[in-house]
Amino acid sequence: MSEFQRVRGFHDIFGEEAKKFRYTANLVREKLRLYNFEEILLPVVEYLEVFQRSIGEITDIVQKEMFSFQDRKGRWLALRPEGTAGAVRAYIQNKLYSKPYIKLFYEGPMFRYERPQAGRYRQFHQIGAEVFGSIDPMVDAEVIQLVYEVLSQLRIDAVIEINSIGCKVCRPAYREALVEYFNHIEASLCEVCIDRKDRNPLRVLDCKVPTCKEAVKEVPKMVDFLCEECKEHYSKLKEYLSKLSIPYRENPNLVRGLDYYTKTVFEAVAVEFDLTVIAGGRYDYLVEELGGPPTPAIGFAVGIERLSMLLKDLPMEDPLYVVIPFGDVMDYAFLVAKLLRSEGKRVELSYKRGGLKKQLELANRLGAKYAVIIGEEEKAGGFYTLKYMETGEQLKIELAPTW
Ligand code: HAM
Repeated sequence: MSEFQRVRGFHDIFGEEAKKFRYTANLVREKLRLYNFEEILLPVVEYLEVFQRSIGEITDIVQKEMFSFQDRKGRWLALRPEGTAGAVRAYIQNKLYSKPYIKLFYEGPMFRYERPQAGRYRQFHQIGAEVFGSIDPMVDAEVIQLVYEVLSQLRIDAVIEINSIGCKVCRPAYREALVEYFNHIEASLCEVCIDRKDRNPLRVLDCKVPTCKEAVKEVPKMVDFLCEECKEHYSKLKEYLSKLSIPYRENPNLVRGLDYYTKTVFEAVAVEFDLTVIAGGRYDYLVEELGGPPTPAIGFAVGIERLSMLLKDLPMEDPLYVVIPFGDVMDYAFLVAKLLRSEGKRVELSYKRGGLKKQLELANRLGAKYAVIIGEEEKAGGFYTLKYMETGEQLKIELAPTW
């Protein structure tokens, strides 16, 4: 075993996994392009406070999952655990609010000190999208439509769950009702939930401890506490989703693990692993809370590892051509490889030397569909010999006169 191992919770993505990863990410990016989102490239590091203020002090992420550190001047920084906080910081700092509204997306690694397990890493990759500047529930519907289309196109069996968690007007009464309820059933809550139920009772709804999961089944529901505005917003969203024929399930206990959310929250849960693959929601106060003008916003993030892990098959790859040079023909071999590539073909110029049999064996191992044999004769005659690996059939292909 090598002396050096990768850090726990971090991983190398290569081979088939890398292909699935890239295919998934490209598909999501293409979908975002069709919906006219523009890319923003954000730093991986922000001041710790950006995350504390956005995600919330009493959340798992801020309390125990941050990769935070001091720089040489003693300022507290952190590797980003998610992208929304940084996107909001950038939106304000770059005065992107001068536009009527703006749709941004970002892609890259995120870092959370979580307990590693299948589909949960300490470095993982998200593509996140954020819409700043509209409160209209049609935006919520369109964002969920985009998510639904990604899942359908990847043929991933997932359920979209939605909920509304209200706003400043209606949530306080719900909070109170929750605290009261939890005080009654305190004995069945875990230590952590007993501790956080007064300060952040919504977090209890998200607790994964089986006794807490059981205890929250009969809990008061936010949907019963929504103010008129939130109720109207939520019912419009559901109406639009139905009009768009997007299947969804209402989950009144869906609260999400980050504190910035208001009104709509949603998650796409993969049926196969019971794992959330895409998640998001509205955050209508966050821009203002971080010092910007009041700006409603909504967004979501796709976990690329989780989504690509669920991909069954990749579409067929382009056939591979392996160019095999014999003798003093390197210049001609380079030329033929260049010509084939210029035609858009995927070409490997063999880097190993040896007899024809050995070279063909190598081409096979490289996954060649065709071997392109180049010898003195081919060079003199201005052609190459194309061998179809599966049947062994051979053809002489003349180069175009310009070559
Ligand atoms: P989140 O639910 O914390 O939301 O993460 C979004 C997605 O990132 C998850 O559904 C999952 O696919 C993936 N993910 C999270 N943690 C891990 C992990 N440890 N390993 C692998 N994948 C993981 C957010 O991050 C919000 N910023 C989403 C958002 C954007 N809300 C509004 N705008």
